[in-house]
Amino acid sequence: MNMYDLIVKKKRGGELTDKEIRWMIREYTDENIPDYQMSAMMMAICFVGMTDEETKELTLAMAHSGDMLNLSEIHGIKVDKHSTGGVGDKTSLVLAPLVASLGVPVAKMSGRGLGHTGGTIDKLESFAGFRTNLTTEEFIRNVNTIHIAIAGQTADLAPADKKLYALRDVTGTVDQMSLIASSIMSKKLASGSDGIVLDVKTGDGAFMKSYSDAKALAAEMVNIGKLAGKDVSAVISDMDQPLGNAVGNALEVKEAIDTLRGGGPRDLKELVLTLGSLMAVKAGKAENTEQAAALLESNLKNGRAFQVFKEFIRAQGGDPGEAEQPELLPRAEYQEEVYSEKEGYVSNIHTEEIGRICLLLGGGREKKDSEIDLAVGVILLRKKGDFVCTGEPIAVIHANSPEKLNEAKERLLQAYEFSEEKPLLEPLIKGIIE
Ligand code: URA
Repeated sequence: MNMYDLIVKKKRGGELTDKEIRWMIREYTDENIPDYQMSAMMMAICFVGMTDEETKELTLAMAHSGDMLNLSEIHGIKVDKHSTGGVGDKTSLVLAPLVASLGVPVAKMSGRGLGHTGGTIDKLESFAGFRTNLTTEEFIRNVNTIHIAIAGQTADLAPADKKLYALRDVTGTVDQMSLIASSIMSKKLASGSDGIVLDVKTGDGAFMKSYSDAKALAAEMVNIGKLAGKDVSAVISDMDQPLGNAVGNALEVKEAIDTLRGGGPRDLKELVLTLGSLMAVKAGKAENTEQAAALLESNLKNGRAFQVFKEFIRAQGGDPGEAEQPELLPRAEYQEEVYSEKEGYVSNIHTEEIGRICLLLGGGREKKDSEIDLAVGVILLRKKGDFVCTGEPIAVIHANSPEKLNEAKERLLQAYEFSEEKPLLEPLIKGIIE
């Protein structure tokens, strides 16, 4: 077998066999296939697609490309959550400690930023000293003692996905259904949780722009999970505007802290309660989602969720004092308001463009090994349906370079659309697939 033939086969619309997929993933993991050939294969898959059988085989091959975590030493039903990626999506930062505050073992594997979307691991690194490269022993010990651990992908866990994730990020090959499904589900299968709740985003800021594509992706992932014996549900949620107001690593951490302290934006809280109640029911902590949501809401109000968050930051090497005083987190040198040049109701926010403005400011990677600037980003002061007068501030840009600040301001003004009539607002939760 050789990679050249497989690339050409896929390019011409062929279906890769189980044996070919297993060979390709093994050889790529072992560094026998170079990135340039794998990039060509990824691009061919973007154009030609994969069948359900190929997607399932790719998922299994990537899940088995390294160790399969054995979490049997963790007491109770372990749950994990994963998002397909969005703009301003700081959900896991609130959700994981909140669900853990009910005593649910949250054993979470998270990723770094991908394309125009952010990643939980990058966000958590806003805390000085915070470690996400936990050993399996540390991971298990933390879940057993404080009910929560969030780790990045180690070199041993689904290493094929780790390599492909970084490659897709910089080669424009992220937004393909089979590649997303296999990337997410390979990690989830390898990381050994019993229950998985998926947040499948749809809209301009998501990789799946249409509801029908998001639904197909959700169904594909639920199906792969069920075949592997996991209890999986998927929530389809709106990403036609950023979630909450903050976009950018440390800015999002600050908004997550507000939410854990009982404040925060309404949409973020609604999504957290929807996903969290499914997780709590899977873990047997509530009989139904209504009961679970009430328990979760009271732990946001009574401070238990924030207490777990601080214990979690400490357990992974960070300073919980930075959670108490978020002004100590990374802060950009320039913070400037952007003033509207138009009047009317905000009818549309080009959400992918908001994510790209954050990348322009330095909040994401352009190359596999780029350093990211944790302090930069955007705070949206106005969202869809809000009325804005000419000259009113609609956003604040946080930047560390005057040139990038000016370009970001111009692009941000173009990312907003206005109408005379108040637009109809889409529901945040668009469906749940069990
Ligand atoms: N999250 C992942 O882990 N992989 C993807 O491909 C997209 C989102």
